[in-house]
Amino acid sequence: MSDWIGTANHGFATLAMEELRRLFRDIKFVQLRAGEIFRMEVPLSREEIMSGLLEKEPVFLRHIQPIDRTLPIQGNADDLQALSELVRSARMRCEGKTIAVHLRRAENTKFLYSAADTKAVLDAVLTELGGEPEMQSPEMICSIYAGVDDLYVGWGSPKEQLSDWPGGAVRFQREEGQISRAKFKLLEAERAFGLRFETYREALDIGAAPGGWTHLLLERGLRVTSVDPAELHSSLKAYQRLNYLKKNASDVKFPSGTFDLLVCDMSWSPMQMSKLVLEKIDALSKNATAIITVKLMHKKPLQTIRDVIERLESEFILKKAKQLFHNRDEITLYLIKK
Ligand SMILES: C[S@@+](CC[C@H](N)C(=O)[O-])C[C@H]1O[C@@H](n2cnc3c(N)ncnc32)[C@H](O)[C@@H]1O
Repeated sequence: MSDWIGTANHGFATLAMEELRRLFRDIKFVQLRAGEIFRMEVPLSREEIMSGLLEKEPVFLRHIQPIDRTLPIQGNADDLQALSELVRSARMRCEGKTIAVHLRRAENTKFLYSAADTKAVLDAVLTELGGEPEMQSPEMICSIYAGVDDLYVGWGSPKEQLSDWPGGAVRFQREEGQISRAKFKLLEAERAFGLRFETYREALDIGAAPGGWTHLLLERGLRVTSVDPAELHSSLKAYQRLNYLKKNASDVKFPSGTFDLLVCDMSWSPMQMSKLVLEKIDALSKNATAIITVKLMHKKPLQTIRDVIERLESEFILKKAKQLFHNRDEITLYLIKK
């Protein structure tokens, strides 16, 4: 038997739970934050759950933490003391490792302390135990969820928790003169799928306006062909490496094997989008990468996703399908051309 806290993007917890139910029989859920955070109890060991998740990672499960220990909240300074004692008793998990402390708070929790205050206190304990506090790329994360009456504490690597951000909530710094928030989606996809765009040569961006994705790829040094009947942001015109075609994507053609990267963020019907992407398949070189968002416009998102993937798999190998933190009513696909 093992206990966990799962997190999905707001409004998508039901889908995450549905995926988990298909993976693990006799799983039980209790909602912690409506549409987003839930507690789950499974009659399987921690290792069995981990290997099940690694084998078929649910699209809508953004983050998962085990519940290794539960502490009742008193609502006073004793809570921080008890939490410190709990961490102190976990020397084996910390010694010689880089560790991050992540705290999330339920809106009506009785726990008085902020994430920053808790982290400051626990970092001192971790250092005392021979661990090294580290926020970026830690080897181990101590995740704490402060529920209404209880603190749920769990340990795991970023890979085991599916993210190295608290609750999988990825935060990027807003830049001055940023063209669109959409840029964060591609930035997050790059990290989530372990890509390095600077290693690509020539990209095709379908549905490019106002140009957040195009901008990121230009910044990474690629040559970019951007297709959109709508206007690209004027600041992009300074880039010599940009070829902007102010057209509908169905009206453009390219020599075969031109692009080693296709990105597509059209916010369109998923079936129309896949048809259009498949029309462009010859323009991609063998093993080209594709990053594509799929709009979830229908009542049955899991079915829509299955249908789109099935269509695209005629020409691509699916590497991963994931709802990223920056995806709203959509998911992101990472594919490689066969
Ligand atoms: C969500 S926006 C893209 C945002 C963009 N990724 C960014 O970073 O700024 C969707 C775009 O797809 C474009 N689009 C929709 N259908 C298209 C088509 N058939 N051909 C080309 N562009 C299309 C729309 O004009 C719109 O500008």
